[in-house]
Amino acid sequence: MSESLFTIAVHAGRPEEGNPSIPSVPGIDLAVSYRASDAATLHAMLGGDAPGFSYSRYGSPTNAALEMALCQMEGAAVARACASGMAAVHLALLLTGLQAGDTLLVAQDSYGATFALVDTIMRRMGVCPVFVDATNRATLAAALAEHRPRALILEPISNPLLRLCDVSAAARLCHEHDVQLVVDATFATPYLLRPLELGADIVLHSLTKYLAGHDDVLGGIVLAGESYVTELRNLTILTGGLLDPHAAYLALRGLRTLPLRMREHCRNAVEVANWLVEQPGVAQVYYPGLSSHPQHHLMRQLLPNGAGGMVAFDLVQANEAAVLRFLDALQMILPVTTLGGVASQILYPACSSHRSLSVERRHALGIGDGLLRLSVGIEDAVDIQADLSRGFAAAAKE
Ligand SMILES: Cc1ncc(COP(=O)(O)O)c(C=O)c1O
Repeated sequence: MSESLFTIAVHAGRPEEGNPSIPSVPGIDLAVSYRASDAATLHAMLGGDAPGFSYSRYGSPTNAALEMALCQMEGAAVARACASGMAAVHLALLLTGLQAGDTLLVAQDSYGATFALVDTIMRRMGVCPVFVDATNRATLAAALAEHRPRALILEPISNPLLRLCDVSAAARLCHEHDVQLVVDATFATPYLLRPLELGADIVLHSLTKYLAGHDDVLGGIVLAGESYVTELRNLTILTGGLLDPHAAYLALRGLRTLPLRMREHCRNAVEVANWLVEQPGVAQVYYPGLSSHPQHHLMRQLLPNGAGGMVAFDLVQANEAAVLRFLDALQMILPVTTLGGVASQILYPACSSHRSLSVERRHALGIGDGLLRLSVGIEDAVDIQADLSRGFAAAAKE
């Protein structure tokens, strides 16, 4: 198989067998149970000692095709497709062996539900979450030395302010302290970054976003190296939050065009971000692909294929009423609570992803009352700009 992600994305996970003909795409295999040639083989399959499918919670063909494709794209030995991105976050944390009494380091600007999962459910179960600025190497090194955690979870491109975290540096620090590094690479995708190659131990994605890419799949995936194969299998059998095969089929179909879509998302985002900088209605633009961005140098090292499709900006009128006028004036960009689809999508963090935070905490994280997060789609950039202009005109009207 080619080394090129464009080629791997198109061909990985294709069926290799069929009777009598080989289908060119995997079918949607809905069987819950599978017969084997004899009972001893079935028992060996159930125990994981023989290849093949036995019961769909243990693994199933359509999901396996998707998992195989993403393993090739990420350079992973094993993958499990989950029912949602949050199921993948949960599974990835369990895969570290996290147990009562353990400390878990969590990047402080992690996705809101990840923050809430560790801070509520996991805390109740005896895990002690410690939130850290993972973008600051010295702070991270000090936290690793002080807390001796089981694992660190971080996002290389944070949400919504798009701060970058140097995954290689974080992996080196983690391994010096015998700590596992879990990377939620949902915003990056393997087109921008392959964390396992940079030293991460476990990678996860919300499939719902760029990987599936068409806003019709809710899913997640956990990927890891050889040493996690048995434990990941055991955990998914016992926790059972697997992706439905219909969704696995759609996700694999979406994945075929991931590199093409990401290339366009990145191109459009650069164009839109540069245009936003010039707009009188904009107080600040957050996009690491801008040469003026404080982490632009790191971006060029970490993300040589582009800075991704997410752009955030502060309106000059930093108040909820102006933001609502802005959103209601849009005619094309979808005001929705998701990202990574082919259509441009916009979100107001203060009233959606970060609404559960106190105003003080939200402001302390740098998420102001006029901040908007734009997932730049693959439409013509000129049309995206024209729609944003409608928003700026409406926001400016008292
Ligand atoms: C970075 C990140 N991780 C995880 C998730 C959770 O994904 P899902 O909504 O598929 O459960 C999201 C959702 O927005 C996300 O942005």
